Amino acid sequence: MTFILEKLHDRASISPFAIGGLGLIVAFAFGLFINIYKKSGAPESRTKGHGFPLPPGPEPMPVIGNLLDIPRKHEWQTLTKWSAKYGDIVRVTVLGRVIIFVNTMKAANDLFDKRSAIYSDRPRLPLLNEVRVFTGQFGTGNVKKFDIVQEQASGKLLKRLLVNPENFIDHLRLHAGQVIMMSVYGINVESRLDGYITTAQKVMDAVSEAGRPGAFLVDIFPISWFPGTISKDIIKQWRIDIHNLRWKPYAASVEILAEGGSPGPSFVSALLEKSDGDCDKTEMDVLIRDSAALAYGGLPPISLSDPNLLMRPYAPLPTFFSSSLTIAGADTSVATLTAFILAMTIYPEVRKNAQAEIDAVVGASRLPSFSDRKNLPYLTAVMKETMRWHTTAPQALPHLLKEDDVYNGYFLPAGSIIVGNTWGILHDPAVYPDPMTFKPERFLTAEGEIDDTLTDPVKYTFGYGRRICAGLNFAENTLWITMAFILSTLDITLAKDAAGNPIPAALDPSSGLISHPDPFKCSVTARSAQAEALIHQADVF
Ligand code: HEM
Repeated sequence: MTFILEKLHDRASISPFAIGGLGLIVAFAFGLFINIYKKSGAPESRTKGHGFPLPPGPEPMPVIGNLLDIPRKHEWQTLTKWSAKYGDIVRVTVLGRVIIFVNTMKAANDLFDKRSAIYSDRPRLPLLNEVRVFTGQFGTGNVKKFDIVQEQASGKLLKRLLVNPENFIDHLRLHAGQVIMMSVYGINVESRLDGYITTAQKVMDAVSEAGRPGAFLVDIFPISWFPGTISKDIIKQWRIDIHNLRWKPYAASVEILAEGGSPGPSFVSALLEKSDGDCDKTEMDVLIRDSAALAYGGLPPISLSDPNLLMRPYAPLPTFFSSSLTIAGADTSVATLTAFILAMTIYPEVRKNAQAEIDAVVGASRLPSFSDRKNLPYLTAVMKETMRWHTTAPQALPHLLKEDDVYNGYFLPAGSIIVGNTWGILHDPAVYPDPMTFKPERFLTAEGEIDDTLTDPVKYTFGYGRRICAGLNFAENTLWITMAFILSTLDITLAKDAAGNPIPAALDPSSGLISHPDPFKCSVTARSAQAEALIHQADVF
C-alpha cells in the first residue's frame, strides 16, 4: 500500500492525471482488483501468449496498471508520445483490462480491415440489429433520397449565418438537427430550442460527460461507485431524457404518417412501409424506433432500462452509457462544420481558391448542387482536409478483440479493448507532411483532380473495419453540400475588435469522445448582392 501511495505521489507530480483523494483511489483500486479478479479471466494476467509478449507500453503499476497514465484531456498528445516511443501498437493495462492503441494506418488496416472478423465487436452491446437496419437505409445506395433534405436545410442555414453571424455555432446545431430530424423522422424543426433538439443535446452532453476520460475507460469499471459518481436525481433525469429521445419523435413520426404522410422521404416512413404485414409489429416497432434513435441522438440507451439501476445508491459515472453509446447524429457534423468555418477564417487563400472553382463551374446565378460534385475537386479536397486537420472523433469508438491474436511478434489477448488512434493516424507526418497546416492541395494531383493514390482521411475519420460509421455517406453528403452552399455565397474572415484589429483565431480542439474546436470569433458577409439574393431565395423552402 505504501509503495502504491509513493508511486501515486511520483506520478502526480509529472502527470496531467493528478487526482485528489489518493486514499479514495487506492481503496477504489483494491475494491476493483478483488472484483475484477473474482469476476473475469482478467486478460492482463496473461502477459504472454503463444510465446509472444504483450505489445510495449508505459510501465504499469501493481493492481491499477496504467490508470494514472491515462490522460484526462488532450489524449492525442499523450498517444503521440507513446506512439513515438513504443511504435505501431501500444499497450496499457487499466484495472485488469488490456487496452491496445493502434497508431498507424498500416496497423489499422492490418487489424481492423484484414482481421475484421475478430476486431469488430464492441465492449458490451453490439447493437448489430439496429446498425444493420440503419445501414440498409443510410448505405451508399440509399442516401441519395436525402439530397433534397440536405440541400433545403443548407439553404436555410445561409440566411441565419448572414443575419446573425455571431451565433454561427447555434446555427450549425440547428442545421444538423434539421437534417437529421427530417431524414430520420420526417419532422421539421425550426428552432434550436425545439424540444426534440434540446432532448438530443441533453443526451449527447450526458454521453460526452460519461465518456470522459477516454472512451475506452467506460467499460472497465465494474463496481457501483467511483470518484465523481452522479446522484440518483441526475440519473433519473437522464432516464427521462433518454426515454423521450427514443419515444417522442418516433411517436410523432408515426402520427404524421397516419395523417397522410411526411413532407419528404424519411428513415422511419421507409421502414414502416416496408414492414407492413410481414413481421411481428411490436418487435419491428422497437427495432425501427431504436435504430432511428441511434441516428438522432447517438444511442439506444439500453443500459438505462436496467431496472436495478435506480436501486443503487449511486451509479458509476462511466458505466452508464458505456458501450451502448455510439458516435452518431448531429454533434459530429456540428464539430466538423465548425472546424470548416475556422479553417476558412484562418486560411483565406484556401477559401478564395474554393470560391474561384465554384464560380467557374457553377457561376453566380445559382447555388451548387450534388450534381456539381465531380467538377469541384478542390472543394472536395477542402472537405477531406477539414476532417483530417480537426479530428472530430479522435479515438473513434472502442472495439473488442474476440479471440487471441498475434501481430508483429506481439500477443493481443482476447477481451482486449482496441482503440484506433485516429488523431495520430491523420497527423502522421510520414503520410501527411506538415500535418498541423490546412492544405487541401495534398489531396490533389498536379492536374487538380482528387488524388486516389493518397490515403483518404474519410476512411479513418469515420472509424474502422466492419464498425465504420453507418452514417458515413449521409454525413459526408451533409458536410459537402453545406460547405458548397457557404462558400458559394459567403465570405468568412477574421473578426475585428473595436479598434479594427483582426482577432486571431487558431485550432484548439476540445477533449472528449467528440472533439469540437474551442470557441473563436469570425466575420461572415455576403460575397455580393447577387449572392445575398440567392441566400434569400434559398430560405423559402
Ligand atoms: C462528421 C460526422 C460523423 C463522424 C466523424 C462519425 C464518426 C463515427 C465513428 C468514428 C464511429 C465509430 C466507428 C468505429 O467504431 O470504428 C461511428 C459510428 C456510428 N455512426 Fe457515425 N459519424 C458521423 C456522423 C454520423 C451520422 C450523421 C450518423 C447517422 C445518420 C451516424 C451513425 C453512426 C452509427 C449508427 C454508428 C455505429 C456503427 C456501429 O456500431 O457499427 N454517424 N461514427
